[in-house]
Amino acid sequence: MNTVLITGGCGFIGSNFINYLLKYHDDFRIINLDALTYAGNKNNLAHFEHESRYHFIHGDICDEQTVNSIFSTYNIDQVIHFAAETHVDRSIMDPLQFLRTNVLGTGVLLEAARRSWGNKFSGHRFHHISTDEVFGSLSSKDPAFNEATPYSPNSPYSASKAASDHLVRAYFTTYGLPVTISNCSNNYGPFQFPEKLIPLMISNAIQGKPLPIYGDGKQIRDWLYVEDHCSAIDLILQYGKNGETYCIGGNNQPTNIEIVTQITSILDELLPKSPYRPHAQLIQHVTDRPGHDRRYDINISKIHNELGWSPHENLYSGLKKTVIWYLEHLTWMNEVNQNQGFSEFLKANYTSR
Ligand SMILES: NC(=O)c1ccc[n+]([C@@H]2O[C@H](COP(=O)([O-])OP(=O)(O)OC[C@H]3O[C@@H](n4cnc5c(N)ncnc54)[C@H](O)[C@@H]3O)[C@@H](O)[C@H]2O)c1
Repeated sequence: MNTVLITGGCGFIGSNFINYLLKYHDDFRIINLDALTYAGNKNNLAHFEHESRYHFIHGDICDEQTVNSIFSTYNIDQVIHFAAETHVDRSIMDPLQFLRTNVLGTGVLLEAARRSWGNKFSGHRFHHISTDEVFGSLSSKDPAFNEATPYSPNSPYSASKAASDHLVRAYFTTYGLPVTISNCSNNYGPFQFPEKLIPLMISNAIQGKPLPIYGDGKQIRDWLYVEDHCSAIDLILQYGKNGETYCIGGNNQPTNIEIVTQITSILDELLPKSPYRPHAQLIQHVTDRPGHDRRYDINISKIHNELGWSPHENLYSGLKKTVIWYLEHLTWMNEVNQNQGFSEFLKANYTSR
């Protein structure tokens, strides 16, 4: 039995990954360390409360004492580090919180792993989850990002993730700590907090609220269905090479406005009696985000050639699954929407900018 420390397991990707790991493997014991910030939701994993292979710890990755005691109490074999502050808009409002969690928190975890594992690295791995946003913005003619693309982050969020990636790499070169890094494109799917583009659009459209699109809506992203991200991490954990980075993406290039239009037409199809049909009438353009990256594209040849991974869902199939999930989990969505801090954030971000 491997004991794996998962940080940020109550967030969007972390909770999907814990579901994935417990579904497809029976040789992992999971310790989930999460501070339960506004983005963490313990209910995402309530069905595992009585599962003997799952243990939740409410704590902060920046707290050295808590992190060190987890390593010594549970004899951690592997770390999969998801915990972070993740929303670009929030990083523009409060950058220091991003530096604290994303940089200092990663440092505390690396140091605890180094001390706990000593020089015995066999069977150990520290996998760091990062983002393609560290590479900056592409022009329409630039080739896609790959593992050799120089870092050029543009927001406090991406700069803090870039700093944490460098720290992880430094622990490999300086101490030989067995690390891997993955830089992934935008994820979407079940359990995503409705401040991010896709769940915000689904949630607002169902309620007949405006669908706010930044600027002209022609920003281009690559989108990955979250379960495909989970399968990629699983492969890296099993077969990835220490010291290596892997780029992960969904192999698509839609503009934001195309994504929102697809969501509205899926909702038109699934909700034929909705008074808000056609849902596309709810689209409203709002002032753009400062420093908004224009285009991301990611080359996934390395993980495909070396580990045999490809995304299973295409954009339409993944979006349809996602819209159906939110329609079937309206209580989950309403609870999140009623969080007072969240409504204040929406007001500050979309109306007071
Ligand atoms: N969502 C995406 O599209 C995307 C894409 C690429 C990479 N990533 C990366 O994947 C990881 C997970 O992203 P997500 O979208 O699931 O994030 P999320 O915001 O949904 O969840 C983050 C989780 O981390 C926890 N957390 C925050 N600060 C903490 C702290 N100090 N100590 C312990 N726990 C803390 C939160 O409570 C929450 O459960 C992040 O590292 C992010 O940078 C996300």
